[in-house]
Parts: sequence; structure tokens; C-alpha cells
Amino acid sequence: MQADLPETMLAVRIREPGGPEVLEPVRVPVPRPGPGEVLIRVAAAGVNRPDVLQRRGGYPPPPGASELPGLEVAGVVVETGEGASRFRPGDAVCALLAGGGYAEYAVAPEPQVLPVPRGLSMIEAAAVPETFFTVWTNVFERGRLQAGESFLVHGGSSGIGTTAIQLARAFGARVFTTVGNEEKKRFCEELGAERAILYRSEDFVAVVKELTGGRGVDVVLDMVGGDYVSRNLEALALEGRLVQIAWLKGSKVSADFARLMVKRLWWTGSTLRPRSVEEKGRIARAVEEQVWPLLESGRVRPVIHRTFRLEEAAEAHRVMEASVHIGKLVLVTDFGRSMAEGGAGASVRARWRRWCRRCRRHGAGRACACSDRRRWWRRGLAGAARQSGRLRRPRRPARER
Ligand SMILES: NC(=O)c1ccc[n+]([C@@H]2O[C@H](COP(=O)([O-])OP(=O)(O)OC[C@H]3O[C@@H](n4cnc5c(N)ncnc54)[C@H](OP(=O)(O)O)[C@@H]3O)[C@@H](O)[C@H]2O)c1
Repeated sequence: MQADLPETMLAVRIREPGGPEVLEPVRVPVPRPGPGEVLIRVAAAGVNRPDVLQRRGGYPPPPGASELPGLEVAGVVVETGEGASRFRPGDAVCALLAGGGYAEYAVAPEPQVLPVPRGLSMIEAAAVPETFFTVWTNVFERGRLQAGESFLVHGGSSGIGTTAIQLARAFGARVFTTVGNEEKKRFCEELGAERAILYRSEDFVAVVKELTGGRGVDVVLDMVGGDYVSRNLEALALEGRLVQIAWLKGSKVSADFARLMVKRLWWTGSTLRPRSVEEKGRIARAVEEQVWPLLESGRVRPVIHRTFRLEEAAEAHRVMEASVHIGKLVLVTDFGRSMAEGGAGASVRARWRRWCRRCRRHGAGRACACSDRRRWWRRGLAGAARQSGRLRRPRRPARER
């Protein structure tokens, strides 16, 4: 279906490999959807560590993908390509991309597009696909984490970590994590980790061994690598699974691999971006079936640290590299801002719900979940949204004052 679209759009490109300053706002042609694709008017785009690697020149887009950074967006469908039939113009969606998210419009293969979970804002929805798909496929599919098992995720305060803590808890696992400071420790323990280990002053192997009665954990999700590989093998229980998703400390390691045999361990890993559309579509269907109900009921929530205007992508990268964030960083377009304020964008053939007037977060067309929000507030998850000015502290009902 053809839409009346502008010829050009604002986007952020990587001028050349380098520091955050190479992220440059530019005007480029609006992309058009090919067969099986949808064109999304972007309200918000998630920022991920792989975007930082791409900016430095170490993570090139797969063949055929947009050269622009950005692996996930939320927005409104404005045009559909031939054969794309699930979504119609006006639908509020979020999508996993192989690139091109730092822009006002983005094209996504339809199998990688999902409806915005009920009750989530566009900003929250934009923070879901990359981390939730990654955690799902690595922790539950490759790592085969089961209810009643124990789980260690490194970098608990990261986008990946905050997602893994919540999902593992929601599926009934005991969760341990590593963090860099006290503030992150408190946050992760409020979020659901039984124990957040200060990796600069504590030995995570000794702590998880002590907490599991000497047995070790069943699954480790590791983004650190380096000397952590050997320590992860030590921290695992018999028949444990180590899942590698990144190598922040390097991928050339020396370890005592005899432990793999003696403890009958599995060591695996994966990357999401180069996988085929069919494979990403399969993960999308599993996530929609298993995780969307948790998002819609409020049991699991993306943690948003801070939002930035699309043009401020360089500043978002500086914050990510300083590692002061807890949860996700999100870029918001002018369209996204106008939706949040209930302005012109909000009425785009609104199968997008207008936000509740009282809490400015939930859909007003159905019972508003403000009470839900109060629960999340107490657990500290609303702090970041408050910082971005989107939420005000809820008034306590008279009987509680
Ligand atoms: N394989 C895949 O498909 C895939 C997909 C998405 C992301 N990833 C990877 O997953 C990682 C997280 O991504 P993100 O976007 O969530 O990034 P992020 O928010 O920037 O997280 C990076 C995290 O690494 C932690 N960290 C650094 N050194 C550590 C150490 N020695 N011990 C424990 N934690 C340490 C940091 O914790 P402190 O600040 O507390 O030090 C921080 O929480 C990245 O490395 C990314 O490349 C992989």
C-alpha cells in the first residue's frame, strides 16, 4: 500500500569509524518497503552496545542491510510492501532491524515486526526487540534455562542484564548477577536478582558457590569473556551451560578446559544480527507467545535509563561508553515526541492508543493500569522515566497518607 511520504528524512549516519562525534545528523531519502517488508514512521529507536561497535568500525552491517546504525525501533506502520499482510498503515509496532533505526523512517521485514505490547509506551517498546530477542534465544533456547535452576548473568545493569534478570525470574529461576557499583547492585536486587555481586571487590565464583551450597549455577550468560571464561567454567554446576554473547574483555582466552569434560558442560554462543529473516521471525514468534503476555501484564518491563533526541545520538553513545546507565538508552524523533504529548502524531489512524490523561503512559481506550504503574514505581523502575520528564510521581491515595 503506497503512502504520501516526504522525499527525505532526518537520519544519523556514521561519517567514518571513530568516537561518538562521527555520528552525524543528515538528510537522506526515505526508504521504501520491498516485498514482504513494512515501512515504519519511527517514534523511538533503542541504542545498543553493538551500535557502538559498529560506530568504531568493528561490527559492519550484514550484506543488504542499511548502513545507518540502529537495530530496533517502535513507531507506526505507514506503508506495506507486496505480500506483507499482517500489519496495516496505522498499526503501532516495534521491530528488530539489521540496521537503519537511527532515522525518522525505517524498513523492516514483516516477520521481525511485532505489535507494541499493550500498556507500553513507544519509548519502552523501542527498547524491547534487540535485548528481549537476544535474551530469549540465548538464555532459554541455547542455555535451556528451566524453572528451579540457577542463573548468573554478567553486567546485570545493562540493557541485556536488566532484561535477563526479569525474564529468568519470571520463568522461575534463581538469579545472580555481577555489577560495577553499589547503585547498580541495589537496582538489580530490586529488579529480581537474589544477589548482585560487586565484580570489582568480590569474587563471583566464590559468591555463587556459597549461595548454591557449593554446587554452582546451571546457566551463565556472559558478555565479558577474557579471564571470565575460565571463572565461568568454575562457577558452573555439573551439566551447566555457558552462553557467550560478547567479548568486552577479549575473545583470545586461556582457560583450563578440562572442566568442560569433567563437569560435562556445554559452551555455546550466538549473534542475532547476521541471522536470516526466517530465523529472526521464528524468534519473534516465540517471544510474542512467551514474553508479550509478561510485558502486557507488567510482570516484566524494559528499564529506560534516559531518552535523547534523534540528533543527540552522539551524546547517547557517550553515556553508553561511560557505563553510567542502568537499562536502556532511547532516541526519540519529533514524531515520537508529538505522540507522547498527544499532539498531531497521536491521531495517526489511531490503532495506536492515546495515553491515559492521568498517568500519561497507558492506553486510555481500555482500563488504565495506573495501579500497575504504582507497583512498578515502588520497585524503582519508573525512576528513569521520571528523569526524562515523562512521568510524575503518582499521588498516594488518601488512605495511605
Ligand atoms: N550476541 C548478540 O546477539 C548480542 C546482542 C545484543 C547485545 N550483545 C552484547 O551484549 C552486551 C550488552 O549489551 P547492552 O546493549 O545491554 O550494553 P550495555 O548496556 O552497555 O552493557 C555493557 C555491560 O557490560 C558490563 N561490564 C563491563 N565489564 C564488566 C565486567 N568486568 N564484569 C561484569 N560486567 C561488566 C557493564 O557493567 P558495569 O557498568 O557495571 O561495569 C555493562 O552493564 C554487549 O557487549 C553487546 O555487544 C550481544
